[in-house]
Amino acid sequence: MRFALATVVTVLPLLIAATPNTASKNTLKIPIAKHSSLVDQHGVVDIIALKSHVTSAVAKINYGFSKFEKNTGAPHPNAKPEAVGNSGSIPLTDDHGQLWFGSISVGTPAVTYTVDFDTGSSDLFLPGPNCSSTCSGHTIYNPLTSTTSKDLGGTFTLTYGDGSTVEGELYSDTVSIAGLSATGQTLGAASQYSTGFAKSQFPADGLLGMAFQSLSDYRASPVFQTLVSEGRTSEPVFAFKLATSGSELHIGGTDSKAYTGEFSYADVVLPAYWQVIMDSIQGNGHASLFSVNCIIDTGTTLVIGDTFSVDLLYSEVGGTDASDTVGEGFYTFPCNNVPKVSFTFSGKSFPISPSTFNLGPVAVGSPDCVGGIVASSIISDAPPFWIVGDVFLSNVYTIFDFGNIRVGFADLA
Ligand SMILES: *[C@@H]1O[C@H](CO)[C@@H](O)[C@H](O)[C@H]1NC(C)=O
Repeated sequence: MRFALATVVTVLPLLIAATPNTASKNTLKIPIAKHSSLVDQHGVVDIIALKSHVTSAVAKINYGFSKFEKNTGAPHPNAKPEAVGNSGSIPLTDDHGQLWFGSISVGTPAVTYTVDFDTGSSDLFLPGPNCSSTCSGHTIYNPLTSTTSKDLGGTFTLTYGDGSTVEGELYSDTVSIAGLSATGQTLGAASQYSTGFAKSQFPADGLLGMAFQSLSDYRASPVFQTLVSEGRTSEPVFAFKLATSGSELHIGGTDSKAYTGEFSYADVVLPAYWQVIMDSIQGNGHASLFSVNCIIDTGTTLVIGDTFSVDLLYSEVGGTDASDTVGEGFYTFPCNNVPKVSFTFSGKSFPISPSTFNLGPVAVGSPDCVGGIVASSIISDAPPFWIVGDVFLSNVYTIFDFGNIRVGFADLA
């Protein structure tokens, strides 16, 4: 209907920068790609990668909780106190590039960069001109060559789990996603990248956070919110299709070709993360968990829940605790009998397909496969709290509705 940009939806792997839409409706999509390596060349799960992914994902969420407390003066109600106290770090270092990334352009004249689109954080940073070897291979953002850049006179430091940092200076500049431009957007120009952002591990140049301002380390409006407040979007929403092929991020509207039926909406309970209440979780058709607080995070590959509820779910579907073999919080099941798990949001049940639930066998030829729902003892179980990542999100079309502060899910077309 409204996209003049059919050519942009070209097949990956190469990312193509979107060009401005000349149509009146400001709603555009850009193709996104995934860099993934949770399995080896035989399709067997990479246990080390899986474990570090869980550590990273949970630490990232705890890091956001600590930012929330700093920005609002109150602890986040779902933060587990002892976990936040010693966090303040995001060990993306070992995250093996589990990211969805696509193109944006920054500055005047505009330069194209790739970024990880992350609904689980709120700031934008790119490698800056003072970043030498640690940023090599990435495209550098140089404020001196952009006529619209402004030095904000501040610095930022993001500390990662291995003690390394991403640090640099704060600027404002014009940032365009899918041809929609946010002017005066705060962004960080890094003078140092931690090893986790080395080109070999992190294919994107930078990271673009899409959660709410209360999580911002810069205490600044995140890019999408700036687009909305500057009136650039026809609708204050963005939507993701995360799939094995044809993944896309739609800005300022939804892609009617990507989904069928109506959206089932859940209100955001606290605008920090995109946090909603899931009605229930069903295992093999039987609902065992109800009213589960969860955050919808495109920056997390797995689905991670508190120990109590994940154990309950696997006991329902015949999973086996694999703490001794795979690692703490992991469960296995017979590869020929993948559990049927579905999540219900606002009365509509969305199944997780066997192919996304099943991460792969524990070893070559093993009859035991690892489940994509994992437990972490570092997240709060009172009330239960889940991080809902791609294992679920790749089964649905997801709209992030900033205008009505809600998240909606629809069946993929
Ligand atoms: C690079 O370093 C110089 C010298 O410390 C500083 O004046 C300048 O603002 C830095 N530029 C950026 C983009 O961080």
